[in-house]
Amino acid sequence: MDQSMDTIVIRGGKPLSGTISISGAKNAALPLMAASLLTPETVVLENIPVLGDIRTLADVLEELGVEIGGNGSGGEGGLELTAGHIEDTTAPYELVRKMRASVLVLGPLLARFGTAKVSLPGGCAIGTRPVDLHIRALEQMGAEIKLQDGYIQAAAPQGLKGADIRFPAVTVGGTENILMAATLARGVTVIENAAREPEVTALADCLVAMGANISGMGSERIVIQGVDQLGGARFTNISDRIEAGSYAVAAGLTDGDVILEGANAAHMEAVIEALRRAGIQIEDVPGGLRVRRNGGSLRGIDLTTQPYPGFPTDMQAQMMVLMAIADGASRITEQIFENRFMHVPELARMGADITVHGGAALVRGVDYLIGAPVMATDLRASVSLVLAGLVADGETVVNRVYHLDRGYERLEEKLSWCGADIKRITE
Ligand code: EPZ
Repeated sequence: MDQSMDTIVIRGGKPLSGTISISGAKNAALPLMAASLLTPETVVLENIPVLGDIRTLADVLEELGVEIGGNGSGGEGGLELTAGHIEDTTAPYELVRKMRASVLVLGPLLARFGTAKVSLPGGCAIGTRPVDLHIRALEQMGAEIKLQDGYIQAAAPQGLKGADIRFPAVTVGGTENILMAATLARGVTVIENAAREPEVTALADCLVAMGANISGMGSERIVIQGVDQLGGARFTNISDRIEAGSYAVAAGLTDGDVILEGANAAHMEAVIEALRRAGIQIEDVPGGLRVRRNGGSLRGIDLTTQPYPGFPTDMQAQMMVLMAIADGASRITEQIFENRFMHVPELARMGADITVHGGAALVRGVDYLIGAPVMATDLRASVSLVLAGLVADGETVVNRVYHLDRGYERLEEKLSWCGADIKRITE
């Protein structure tokens, strides 16, 4: 079914109340799936969400020869991946262009097979997003890499060797690619200025379950002692901290009272702290988090996006909606991506007062937002428009719903169970 023409229609003003169950983390699931390329044995992943991006990476892996069983693209029962017979180590443009994270197959392919040809992902809506840091680090590990015809052509005929790698900037995908590559390299690899995101740690934990020798995950210095081979494992994915944060904003925006079942507060400290400063109450409850506003007013706060444990760029658009109707002014500074304010003109069409100067947005709180037809060009911008719709007067129609389907599992179901007036219209 072509979902590209679907729309989501929201009538705002309903306070959310009830329980939302948080899905497995998309951005952890993707590297976990790529890690299956490191072994001929079966890797079983539990708590993988059913999402467009998961399906896209499953397509890339199947193209390479990985057998996918269990629940094909995630969901109940676990996803089983077996890279027993890899026929070809090429990840083609037609698949990689759909999702940049496909580049995560580069490190594992090169480490296990000594060769890989992966399409350069190119730019995307939120910026140019190069992969130069991945490439430079693999070269330090002895890979010969050519960029030709839009492809990264990598070879390591003698296998990869351990290296001391210091990333000049924190890169989540770069850290993940090198972490995977280093598990099968000869000798010790040290990654300095490593990404500390919980998704990176989840990947390291899964690699250890597969037989890798890794220490320091979760810190800025990860040490990997290469091993000859890895084996199968069963691993349960972490819950999605960005999905949880998005629904926490929804509860706060609508003056609701919501339990986020399965949310992991330890992964959300910066977001929880920001929400509290903005006037939202968050407390630990057994198995999750309770989020409510208790009728209080929302306060404008200043925010700057940073690598973990700082405030995540993937929550910036959602927080901006909260600030749009908060008391006073807020400054939101985006430091990770150069072009991540595409939601601003759409929010302005709903009555928000926001001006962007370079990498910072000045948000002056207004009394209310007004429903409008809107669309966005990336996942988090799209969800911010849904959030705005939940609190806006009248009807909001969100177009280009396929962006939401890439990263939010059963979005309209989860919200309507809590009383939101939201429905999907399928053309
Ligand atoms: C991951 O992207 C996430 N994606 C993104 O989530 C997230 O926004 C981002 O990390 C930052 O937290 C996945 O995990 C699949 P980076 P990634 O490498 O790994 C620059 C979402 O909405 N850079 O940490 O691609 C880069 O351009 C998505 O779920 C280089 O210059 O991000 C960016 O400015 C969107 N050269 C910064 O570093 C490189 O070789 C951080 O990027 C690599 C990165």
